[in-house]
Amino acid sequence: MSEYAIEMMGITKTFPGVIANDKVNLQVREKEIHALLGENGAGKSTLMSILFGAYSADSGTISIHGKQIEIKNPNIATELGIGMVHQHFKLVQNYTVTENIVLGMEPTKMGGILDLGTAGKRVAEISNKYGLAVDPSSIIEEITVGQQQRVEILKTLYRNANIIIFDEPTAVLTPQEVDELMDILRLLREEGKTIILITHKLKEIKDVADRCTVLRRGKYIGTVDVASVTEQDLAEMMVGRSVNFEIDKPEMEAGEVVLSMQNVFVENSSGLEKVKDLSLDVCAGEIVGIAGVDGNGQTELLEAIIGLTPTSKGSIFLDGEEITHLTIRDRIERGLGYIPEDRHKYGLVGQFSIYENCALKNYYQDIYRNKYDLLDFAKMHSDAEVLIEQFDIRAGEGALTPAASLSGGNQQKVIVAREISLSPKVLVVAQPTRGLDVGAIEYIRKRIIEERGKGRAILLVSFELDEIMNLCDRIATISKGSIVAVNRQHEVTEREIGMMMAGSKKEEAIV
Ligand SMILES: Nc1ncnc2c1ncn2[C@@H]1O[C@H](COP(=O)(O)OP(=O)(O)OP(=O)(O)O)[C@@H](O)[C@H]1O
Ligand SMILES: [Mg+2]
Repeated sequence: MSEYAIEMMGITKTFPGVIANDKVNLQVREKEIHALLGENGAGKSTLMSILFGAYSADSGTISIHGKQIEIKNPNIATELGIGMVHQHFKLVQNYTVTENIVLGMEPTKMGGILDLGTAGKRVAEISNKYGLAVDPSSIIEEITVGQQQRVEILKTLYRNANIIIFDEPTAVLTPQEVDELMDILRLLREEGKTIILITHKLKEIKDVADRCTVLRRGKYIGTVDVASVTEQDLAEMMVGRSVNFEIDKPEMEAGEVVLSMQNVFVENSSGLEKVKDLSLDVCAGEIVGIAGVDGNGQTELLEAIIGLTPTSKGSIFLDGEEITHLTIRDRIERGLGYIPEDRHKYGLVGQFSIYENCALKNYYQDIYRNKYDLLDFAKMHSDAEVLIEQFDIRAGEGALTPAASLSGGNQQKVIVAREISLSPKVLVVAQPTRGLDVGAIEYIRKRIIEERGKGRAILLVSFELDEIMNLCDRIATISKGSIVAVNRQHEVTEREIGMMMAGSKKEEAIV
């Protein structure tokens, strides 16, 4: 028997205009947690899709538990005991948890009748064993993202997977959920499972992984023992230069109030009051962060500012003008930019090319009319090429590349590029660096600080306290839909913010 659960040797895979994997090697030992690290677009998801049988490699070999094998489709991967928790979940939204888990492997009673009772029992057993608490009868669209991920994990365990691939599982989780997932990964290893973990968080790699393989621009760079390297070493291996984790933020006087929320109340689609009597100002040349545990009204507040959800009471002003009841387009035209949390739902149109996505908010304006009074596609195309260059967006076919074929991190860069290029007065930003590699995070944070330097008012929601502490001038802590405190960044510690998020008050220092 081989020491390796998985051996992928000399794997090459090309897509139009890109070599996604260029003679890549990956050797994963039995019962280890093996991290796969690389920049956005380095080829990690592609390599895993090949292992899972979703793509076939142009060349190279794969051995599972020492036996060379061709994995032609995901059914073969499943039979081999390989399971995958995808970067973008693949659950049926209006099915229950149990229905999703058994989909394709439904147990039947005599006469071929679906036996959901037995299935439900087995699901409950597995979820107890691994501490994966989730209600088997809930409908997927009604549970949180963290719970949906548990369903994906249960699905692989239900199929008896002994090799489980996690493609950026923590990008969508809150810090608490991340800790829980790390425990689950350790437990899976203890139970004898082999795990591949893709993550951009070097801290998580140090935390749980045994070894780490690094890819850069489709090429294999090396495999290291995690205990023998620092986070800085990993970052350098991955981007090929040293990375600055702390960014310089020049001192700056804030200007006039540009975005003002006054006694705002917002209800969610089920009529629950999610934002309660919230007042907050954001000034020109200032970054105000909203710190809070997910689900405390952040999403609803941002949607109310953008116009996606009505404000039930209270007012919102942009540059002194009330925008509370304006249409979304009117708000955009008055200078409101938005980097949404859910980049697939609100940020991009997958089938559209990069240049079409870049022009989504201003295609109808004069700048994109040519002399025949038709849409000026040539200008859209050349403008997008400039953004691709500036933001280092890795796309095989340049501005013509469909957004859906970009790697996750590069999709995010397209949205950030579009919103910043529109020079908004107010930039509302949710989770701007989610799913980005360390080099890209450094770049996007620099750009946000540059925008502040140009006098934009920036409202930032992030679940990552270090991002809030790094970028913001003032920090508003939100709990149960209300702001519990607003502090200047240098007057408060990460720990104090954490405590206020959990509901306890910090005395004084309220500005
Ligand atoms: N189906 C596809 N069609 C065309 N190009 C693709 C497709 N899938 C991936 N690519 C390209 O292959 C390259 C590698 O992409 P991949 O998704 O494997 O990167 P990644 O390392 O997972 O990045 P990220 O960290 O951003 O998720 C990228 O340039 C991407 O645009
Ligand atoms: Mg990926």
